[in-house]
Amino acid sequence: MNYVLPFLYFSSFTSSVSMFNLVGLLIICLTGGADASIGVNYGTLANNLPPPHQVAEFLLHSTVINRVRLFDADPQILQAFANTGIAVTVTVPNDQIPHLTNLTSAQKWISDQIQPHFPSTNIIRILVGNEVISTANHLLIRTLVPAMQSLHTALVSVSLHRRIQISTPHSLGILSGSTPPSSAKFRRGYNTQVFKPLLSFLRATSSPFVVNPYPFFGYSTETLDFALARPNPGLIDRHTKLLYTNMLDAQLDSVYSAMDKLGFSDVEIVIGEIGWPSEGDKDQIGVDVSTAAEFNKNVVARVDSGTGTPLMPNRSFETYIFALFNENLKSGPTSERNFGILRSDLTPFYDIGILRPKVRSSNPENNPGSLWCVAKSGAETVALQRNIDYVCGLGLDCRPIIEGGLCYLPNTVKAHSEYAMNLFYQTMGKYKFDCDFENTGEITTMDPSYGNCEYQV
Ligand SMILES: *[C@@H]1O[C@H](CO)[C@@H](O)[C@H](O)[C@H]1NC(C)=O
Ligand SMILES: *[C@@H]1O[C@H](CO)[C@@H](O)[C@H](O)[C@H]1NC(C)=O
Repeated sequence: MNYVLPFLYFSSFTSSVSMFNLVGLLIICLTGGADASIGVNYGTLANNLPPPHQVAEFLLHSTVINRVRLFDADPQILQAFANTGIAVTVTVPNDQIPHLTNLTSAQKWISDQIQPHFPSTNIIRILVGNEVISTANHLLIRTLVPAMQSLHTALVSVSLHRRIQISTPHSLGILSGSTPPSSAKFRRGYNTQVFKPLLSFLRATSSPFVVNPYPFFGYSTETLDFALARPNPGLIDRHTKLLYTNMLDAQLDSVYSAMDKLGFSDVEIVIGEIGWPSEGDKDQIGVDVSTAAEFNKNVVARVDSGTGTPLMPNRSFETYIFALFNENLKSGPTSERNFGILRSDLTPFYDIGILRPKVRSSNPENNPGSLWCVAKSGAETVALQRNIDYVCGLGLDCRPIIEGGLCYLPNTVKAHSEYAMNLFYQTMGKYKFDCDFENTGEITTMDPSYGNCEYQV
C-alpha cells in the first residue's frame, strides 16, 4: 500500500443524491464462508511474528484462507507452505526490476527463487514490484513491462508459464478523473506507454490486472459510511445512470472503465490488497477494532457472494486482505502498523468469518471418551508409508487421502498415515494392538479431525 499518495474518492458526492434512501440495498449477505476463496497478505516487517511453519499450519487447519501473498520470495516461508496446497504469490522487490529485463538474470531468478520450491509449494503467481507507478521512479516504470516479459520468457524456458502467472500490483493512484467511475482513465503519459503494453501482456498470458483499492485511503468524515458500505445516500453515475452504494464498487468500476477505454475490459481484475486498520492516531475517526472488523467482514462476505459491481455484474474477484499481522517495524502513521487481522500468537483481533469451526479436540464433550489412533512422534516416514500401503491395500476406504479428497491436504506421509491408521483401528474394533503398527502408532483422546477432514470414531 502507499499511504503517501492517498486516493481521494468522491469528496463531493454527498450533496448530489441525498434524496435516495438506499437502506434496503445495503444488507450484506453473510453466508457460511466455508467455501470462500479468500487470500491474505503475509507482510513480515515486524520483530514479533511466529515462525512461518506455524503460520502455514494455522492457516491450513484453522482458517478458510487458501491464498497467500508474500512481499518477497523468502525461501523459509516458501518452504513452510510446501505440501499445504495453499496458493502462494511471491513478489520481486522493486529494486530488482531493472536488472531482470536481462533474460539471463530473469532465468537465474526463476531457477534460484522459484524452482527449488515448485511444485511442492503451490506458487501460482509472481508479482513484479509493488505499486511501481506510485514510486514515480522513471527507471523502474520504464523497465517494469520488459522485466515482466523476460520473467515470463524465463518461465517458458522451463515450461512453468502455464502454472505460474506474472503480474504487477497498482495503487489507485494510476487513475485520473475517476468521479464518476465511468469517466476514469489511466494517468496521462502512462496510458499508452505503460498500461497498453502491460494489459496486452496480461491478456496474452491470461494473467490478471492487480489493483490495491483501499477505501480506507479515500474516505473523509462525510464519506465514512460510503467507504464502509453502511446505509448512505449513495452515488449515481451521471453517464451510466448506475447507482453506487459503496466505495469499493466505485473504485473497481473506475479501474474497469480505464481498462475498457484502452480496449481491455476482458482482462481479469484481482484485488491484491484491501484492508482497514484497527488502530490509528488519536482522534482519527473510523479507526478502531470494531470498524476494522466490520469492513473486513464485508469484504469476506462479498468474495463469497459473487454479486460483482454495477459495471461488472456477477464477476467475482480473487481478493487478498491486508494483512495477516500487524507490522511493528513499519514507519508512517500509527495505522500503517495496525492492519493485521491476527495477533502474533495467532489469535484473531476480531472474527471476520475466516476461522473454521473449532477443531474438535478443544471441545471434548462432542465425542466423550472417544479414542483415535495417530502416528507416534518421531516415527519414520518409510514406516508410516508402509502403514498407508498396508491399510489401503486391504481395501478400506482411503479416498479421503487421495488427491481431491477432504483429507488430502496437508499432502504429507505423516498426515495420510494417521488417517489410514485410525481408519484401520476404528474398523477393526478399537483394539489397542490394532494401533501398534510395529510401534509407530499410539492412541489419543484428541480428535485429529480438522476443517472438513473427519477422522472416524
Ligand atoms: C545479461 O546478463 C549477462 C550476465 O550478467 C551478461 O553476460 C549479458 O551481457 C547481459 N545481456 C544483456 C543484453 O545485457
Ligand atoms: C447475473 O446473475 C443473475 C442471477 O443468476 C442473472 O439473472 C443475470 O442475468 C446475471 N447477469 C449477467 C450480466 O450475467
